[in-house]
Amino acid sequence: MKVDVLLGLQWGDEGKGKIVDVLTPNYKVVARFQGGPNAGHTLEFENQKYVLRSIPSGIFQGGKINLIGNGVVIDPALFKGEIDALEASGHNLTDRLYISKKAHLIMPTHRLLDSASEVAKGDDKIGTTGKGIGPVYTDKISRNGLRVGDIFHNFEEKYQQATKRHKKMLDNCNFNYDNLAELEEEWFEGVEKLKTFKMIDSEQFVNDQIKQENSVLAEGAQGSLLDIDFGTYPFVTSSNTVCAGACTGLGISPHSIGEVFGIFKAYVTRVGSGPFPTELFDEVGKKMAVKGNEFGSVTGRPRRCGWIDLVALKYTIMVNGVTQLIMMKSDVLDEFETIKLCVAYNINGERTATFPFEVNEDITPEYVEMAGWQEDMTKMQSENEFPEEFNAFLSFLEEELEVPIKIVSVGPDRAQTIIR
Ligand code: GDP
Ligand code: IMO
Ligand code: MG
Repeated sequence: MKVDVLLGLQWGDEGKGKIVDVLTPNYKVVARFQGGPNAGHTLEFENQKYVLRSIPSGIFQGGKINLIGNGVVIDPALFKGEIDALEASGHNLTDRLYISKKAHLIMPTHRLLDSASEVAKGDDKIGTTGKGIGPVYTDKISRNGLRVGDIFHNFEEKYQQATKRHKKMLDNCNFNYDNLAELEEEWFEGVEKLKTFKMIDSEQFVNDQIKQENSVLAEGAQGSLLDIDFGTYPFVTSSNTVCAGACTGLGISPHSIGEVFGIFKAYVTRVGSGPFPTELFDEVGKKMAVKGNEFGSVTGRPRRCGWIDLVALKYTIMVNGVTQLIMMKSDVLDEFETIKLCVAYNINGERTATFPFEVNEDITPEYVEMAGWQEDMTKMQSENEFPEEFNAFLSFLEEELEVPIKIVSVGPDRAQTIIR
């Protein structure tokens, strides 16, 4: 049995949460492998809407085991908030949510350091989610981090040591941390909540599942263009969001990877700063934002919108070894007369179809235009109902990207999903 991986191919918010929920009935275990509460994964079904941050999106489909893997970073305070909200709506996860002992903990001071770093960068700020992601992964890599398993081993001492170090850093940049005591109170309550969950050696668990022929779906967060190595650095997140991240974030061998589901929107969005070659600043972009309800599920920030970028998509498909594509938010383009697809970049007079080292304002996208379908897709149930123009759009994408599009999403609800 292999582990299938589902990951975003753009700058995040592709609709990963929705599709993980849709696919969960096919699996025994759903496991998050990187990122933390910077993620916001939205699920809609039966007139209910949920936004998950650290908790995997496989919790609403029967008694599946959901796992927070070692590659994930957890903020106990936010985790408790998430769990409390789920419990209030009748979802008790105590017996079916497992947490890796090797997952790193986001401390209150990591959040403060995230803000301090953004302030220091000024106009060059990354536009992070402010959840302490950069600082916690920095501590992990520099071998200063606190892990979930540490909660039971001299925790107070380790916590104080790390906090002392962080305070020095905050002092160095004159960053005020008067609210730390308040943040700490919430945080330690969160640690108590964490303790009520099963903390495991998750790499053993996942490999045992593989051996026992139990199917596992690995759920990515963010998107490949935010990957620390392959994204539009430095405007990226601090983890490996690509497929290889599932190996390190769960402790599985590359041989254990089965299908790689690459998910993308029929257009592109981005939150925060950083280059975005096909970004639209006109009425068309505004129309996408309004129709697609493009506001961040974590920060509420408006998402920047633009036409689909096949140069970037080909690149992320390559880096991930995508075997199946999933196209989201097709319905958002329902009213457009023409649809543009970027097939190449022109950089200082040179045409390239290869994603360049430097993605910046020197890039002029080259577009192919296709006729829009101008038909409401939101109630469609099968591909037989697809308008002719939409089929042409799909065929063009499949030909260019050389990977089949197996799922088409036509609305936010679980039911608005067409499997081909
Ligand atoms: P994730 O981070 O990849 O899980 O994506 P988000 O949940 O942050 O953002 C996707 C947004 O689009 C959510 O508000 C979803 O409810 C919504 N959504 C997902 N699929 C579709 C779709 O096919 N059509 C429309 N209109 N909305 C969708
Ligand atoms: P999901 O899983 C969209 C972006 C931030 C910022 C950059 C770095 O919902 O797709 P960070 O807080 O990680 O240090 O911020 O990455 N970002 C996301 N954008 N979706 C996400 O997650 C994101 N997680 C981080 O906006 O530009
Ligand atoms: Mg999101």
